[in-house]
Amino acid sequence: MEQYIIKGGSPLVGEVEIGGAKNAALAILAAAIMTDETVTIDNLPDVNDINVMLEAIDGIGASVQRLDRHTVKINGSGVADFSIDYDFIKKIRASYYLLGALLGKYNKAEVALPGGCNIGSRPIDQHLKGFRALGAEVDIEHGKIVAEAEVLRGTHLYFDVVTVGATINVMMAAAMADGLTIMENVAKEPHVVDVANFLNSMGANIKGAGTDIIKIRGVKSLHKSEYSIIPDQIEAGTFMFAAAATKGDVTVTNVIPKHLEATVAKLTDIGCEVEEFDDAVRVVAKGRLRSTQVKTLPYPGYPTDMQPQIGVCLALCSGTSTITESIFENRFKYLDELARMGANIKVEGNSATIEGVEKFSGARVSAPDLRAGAALCIAGLATDGITIVDDIVYIQRGYERFEEKLRGIGGIIERVSSEKDIQKFKLKVG
Ligand code: EPZ
Repeated sequence: MEQYIIKGGSPLVGEVEIGGAKNAALAILAAAIMTDETVTIDNLPDVNDINVMLEAIDGIGASVQRLDRHTVKINGSGVADFSIDYDFIKKIRASYYLLGALLGKYNKAEVALPGGCNIGSRPIDQHLKGFRALGAEVDIEHGKIVAEAEVLRGTHLYFDVVTVGATINVMMAAAMADGLTIMENVAKEPHVVDVANFLNSMGANIKGAGTDIIKIRGVKSLHKSEYSIIPDQIEAGTFMFAAAATKGDVTVTNVIPKHLEATVAKLTDIGCEVEEFDDAVRVVAKGRLRSTQVKTLPYPGYPTDMQPQIGVCLALCSGTSTITESIFENRFKYLDELARMGANIKVEGNSATIEGVEKFSGARVSAPDLRAGAALCIAGLATDGITIVDDIVYIQRGYERFEEKLRGIGGIIERVSSEKDIQKFKLKVG
């Protein structure tokens, strides 16, 4: 199994270009099959989750032509199979977006039920509630969701929980339903807006994405489109916190500063100097940072996908900080790993109390999930000595060329897969 080996202790300095948003791209790729014409999508992140989604789309009969690492042409006219295999949903939960896309276009879809994952049970009751409200029969048979409708009719739906996945999935199905659908208590994340903009670029009629109410007038068919994915605010924030934790000076480019407001607010709270440009943000951290309180919330609140990254920073800040994780029930597992590096943290339920320490010591740790894995790399970069991060396959699901980009701003990090490689690295860095 591959690992990252890191020699930390030096500030990260320089510029890093941010790629396309994984969580927008996964839904947009699914939505691309809703037209029989050809769709070209660029600024795709070249990460494992995207490659699995493309395999799933190809697997149901769509034509998928990868023009380069970041650009793909998709034509859904050849879709002949409305059932998504379990092995795709096991690899990426987001293949459930094909439910909304297939139901919207063909009035039927079958997708294996996604299980839980490391950060929580992650139910999909709101997705099913939305499809039923549109008039679909939705049953769970032998571990599969089977959805079918004579015709999908517009509805007025109020989500019980603010959920990104259900907002996007039901929006896709409603885009080709008969009549008007009003969805309330919806998610407002930038990637929800990006999916709505993409569907509208194919001829859908969706208004209000990014607000609390989305109105969708169904259309009979969708047409070709050329579309570019928005920048990934979570990748950007990860590098911004890496600058903060290593007392560095890093500029993230190809970003939309508006999407980073909650992250910038917290970086400023803990004492970073943050400068915003049209499509870049610079983060400078001098000296020891200070404690703060964080509560994760749906957008525009502080993002849950940025919780481990600030957790690492706060563990090195002066004073006592608290983090309340209000979105997922099991997103503190990385704190046990951080404690092995010397962090002083107490977790009670969905809140963590963090007593800042002067420094960590290098250790061998394991990535419990995608964002926590990236955060543990940040911890290693902030620590004198050698840190080894296991299970980096999680990190590669959502971060393109992660170690390369970190090396580009002075990080001493390599991907290794043997004891021999580890010894070679240690000899090289001294
Ligand atoms: C998306 O997951 C992201 N994944 C997650 O990013 C992100 O953490 C999450 O949104 C919140 O922003 C993708 O976009 C592929 P939710 P999703 O539905 O859609 C509850 C990453 O690191 N809920 O907004 O699954 C759920 O249990 C990943 O890139 C229900 O109760 O998240 C959770 O408590 C990790 N019933 C809350 O809503 C439902 O039917 C938010 O979940 C659906 C969700």
